[in-house]
Amino acid sequence: MLQDALVSLDPLRPVGAEIAEGLRLHGAARSREEREQRVVDLLRLVGVPEPELKARQLPQQLSGGQRQRALIAAALALDPRLLIADEPTTALDVTIQAQVLALLEETRARGKALILISHDLAVVSRMADEVLVMRDGEVVERGVAEQIFSDPRHDYTRRLVAAIPSAHSRGSRLAPSSAPRFDTSSAALDPRHAAAAPEILLRADGLVKRFAGPDRSVHTAVDGVSFELRRGETLGIVGESGSGKSTVARLVMAFEPPDVGSVTLLGEDWSTLPEAARRRRRRDISIVYQDPLSSFDPRWTVGRILDDALPDDEPDRRGRIAELFALVGFSGSLAHRRPLELSGGQRQRLAIARAVAPRPRLIVCDEPVSALDVSIQAQVLDLLGDLKAELGVSYLFISHDLGVVHHISDRVLVMNLGRVVESGEADEIFLKPRVDYTKRLVAAVPRLAHRAAGDHPTPRASGAVA
Ligand SMILES: Nc1ncnc2c1ncn2[C@@H]1O[C@H](COP(=O)(O)OP(=O)(O)OP(=O)(O)O)[C@@H](O)[C@H]1O
Ligand SMILES: [Mg+2]
Repeated sequence: MLQDALVSLDPLRPVGAEIAEGLRLHGAARSREEREQRVVDLLRLVGVPEPELKARQLPQQLSGGQRQRALIAAALALDPRLLIADEPTTALDVTIQAQVLALLEETRARGKALILISHDLAVVSRMADEVLVMRDGEVVERGVAEQIFSDPRHDYTRRLVAAIPSAHSRGSRLAPSSAPRFDTSSAALDPRHAAAAPEILLRADGLVKRFAGPDRSVHTAVDGVSFELRRGETLGIVGESGSGKSTVARLVMAFEPPDVGSVTLLGEDWSTLPEAARRRRRRDISIVYQDPLSSFDPRWTVGRILDDALPDDEPDRRGRIAELFALVGFSGSLAHRRPLELSGGQRQRLAIARAVAPRPRLIVCDEPVSALDVSIQAQVLDLLGDLKAELGVSYLFISHDLGVVHHISDRVLVMNLGRVVESGEADEIFLKPRVDYTKRLVAAVPRLAHRAAGDHPTPRASGAVA
């Protein structure tokens, strides 16, 4: 079971056919009908909504979390004795995560062994009997889970436990002070005519987006979403898998037009314009994705990727690229590498450098840290915070990780089934949620099961799923 669901699923084959193929090869179900029924049952088991419909769709028509669950279904289909799960819940929101973890626990209770690879310490503390902590290809600590989390012996383990973002970390840096702190102070990075930026950078007005299913059914992915993003603000969006977060991001970027409603950027029409009229203003808004690998041309070097992201009229291209390198802590030797030759954290920093290159006023981040381990995640979150402070950029920050969103956001929107069900100051939303849906999300956040003395233990997340 692999981490990156988008690249592991065949883009040309319906999701159900891919799962059925495994069943067929292993002789697990005899007839075609039997296999189709089993595929739908498996998709339902892992919490994919409308499993009959989703089985007939292509991977790119599923949300990130739905794809991840389809992969889990494919792995469970074969009922293996040993299941190796590599970041099985990384792309999942907390309630679905709780459901998948309960499923893995059940598998284990049936006598199967589980190797769980994860950067999410809370998940590991909940699931594992024994834990290995790895760093640079070496095991630095090994022990029963309780000891690892309540009494870590190795300095690296201690730092990992400390780097978890949460309500307590708001306004502070996550990475230890010895971690690289990148040079964001260069004068040439000053925001363009900052004074001229209007107070409201982005306004979404009654956005609606519908998708047609294979049987002409219509699915409303975004259903009347309105919000404002102010200058210098970070607006977080949380919500369960499939709630429409990434679709909102695509509408805001004007990669797709809304069916109803409009997006206004810097006080001017944005989503209603023809692309040619938008091109000049594209540099005002850029995006960082969860999985930068699929957004880079694999043949291009780091230097070329950044050069391509600069505006055509940039006078000092080499100087500007050097600045971007300093900004994200890259040494010059990385300039000739290709994306596949970078680590996950380096790739994500390259994605941020690319997003910053045109000096945007607004960066949309769609799950920008969910593929990263906590220490790299801490560096990237700190970097985003520094850029905000130094360059005055604003963020629309989408994540299924409530701790991360609480840490970084000023205000938060909570989405459910395409609608905004609650919005407000980050502390208000997470500490005093008003709506049941938000309460349920907050209650399902996995916490470290074994905490050092003094911290309050929290109940396990399983059972929180409706
Ligand atoms: N191109 C498409 N064709 C058909 N349906 C789509 C398409 N894109 C998204 N959808 C559907 O719209 C819904 C919302 O998807 P979206 O990707 O916005 O969810 P999300 O909140 O980002 O979820 P996740 O947390 O899993 O990434 C899902 O049910 C998805 O299957
Ligand atoms: Mg998404």
